[in-house]
Amino acid sequence: MTDLNGTVAELMARGKGILAADESIATMSARLEGAGVAATAQNRCAYREMLVTTPGLSQGVSGVILSDETFRQRLAAGPTFPEALASAGILTGIKVDTGAKPLAGQPGEKVTEGLDGLRERLSEYASLGARFAKWRAVIVIADGCPSRQALRANAHALCRYAALCHEAGIVPIVEPEVLMDGQHSMDLCAKASIAAQLATFAELQEFGIQLDAVVLKPNMVVPGKDSAEVAGPEEVAKATLETLCMAVPEEVGGIAFLSGGQPPAKATANLAAIRCLPAPWPVTFSFGRALVDPALAAWRGVPAKVTAGQRALGQQVAANSAALTGGFSLPADAMLMALDDPDPDPDHARSR
Ligand code: 13P
Repeated sequence: MTDLNGTVAELMARGKGILAADESIATMSARLEGAGVAATAQNRCAYREMLVTTPGLSQGVSGVILSDETFRQRLAAGPTFPEALASAGILTGIKVDTGAKPLAGQPGEKVTEGLDGLRERLSEYASLGARFAKWRAVIVIADGCPSRQALRANAHALCRYAALCHEAGIVPIVEPEVLMDGQHSMDLCAKASIAAQLATFAELQEFGIQLDAVVLKPNMVVPGKDSAEVAGPEEVAKATLETLCMAVPEEVGGIAFLSGGQPPAKATANLAAIRCLPAPWPVTFSFGRALVDPALAAWRGVPAKVTAGQRALGQQVAANSAALTGGFSLPADAMLMALDDPDPDPDHARSR
């Protein structure tokens, strides 16, 4: 059995965060096509190989989350992805949910599936080198949503997943993500985030889950993507930490934020501001798009551009690592607005 607390400590090591490279086949294919790259298994593999072989990645990345497809693929030089990550001193994570499906009886809401056969899958992943896992619940803000039913159904699934992870010696990343989609205010995002986290921890505590061996992956508290409200990093940081402090027990092993479709520069500035406030847990990033979007745009499937893609990823990792250690200075808000670029894949949040 692996040491769960040791894994949490490695994931939350100072100045390091998690790279979420676990998009489903459908989402990854759409993103490749969006960048003009044919959506083949080989190209998905080449893209992920470009990411994980970035020189010096382990300086700012403690773990990489893979999808099942990538977990079983091999790099051009022969090793599997978990083997390559282990030799680079990076922990392998695995996304084990099978996606968010419509929740019967609750129109517009979803419940994440994947519990069937999960014990056997986790045991296989552990034997092949996985040290941590991810399960993502999606919570929608709309009229009457999130409903209590959706919150409870998702919290229950997250809890059963976490218990099975611990049984397999794997650290669960528990992700109740309140989506940015919509015109809602930042205040509504805060309320939905508190509700989602309270429901999740009520369930985890009811089942006696060892909380110091759990990493929570929350959204930051921000206005909806289509809202006219503007919130600067200090405001986001304050609202986000107030929310977490209301709902998340102090024993939780760590907090690793998702980027949720925020432009990369904003996600980094918000992370830097969050890190400036006192918190009872270690805090880091577990970003997908905010780390990889610039790399995909630089690479575009061209073998000669691998170095350019890796440089772009390296810059994002360095900026977020600096955000965690105090080396990142907040650009003025006006500058952040200029850095905004719309999410190139608006459906990503729903379909990941
Ligand atoms: P984003 O940072 O792109 O939101 O992805 C993180 C993630 O893993 C969502 O499950």
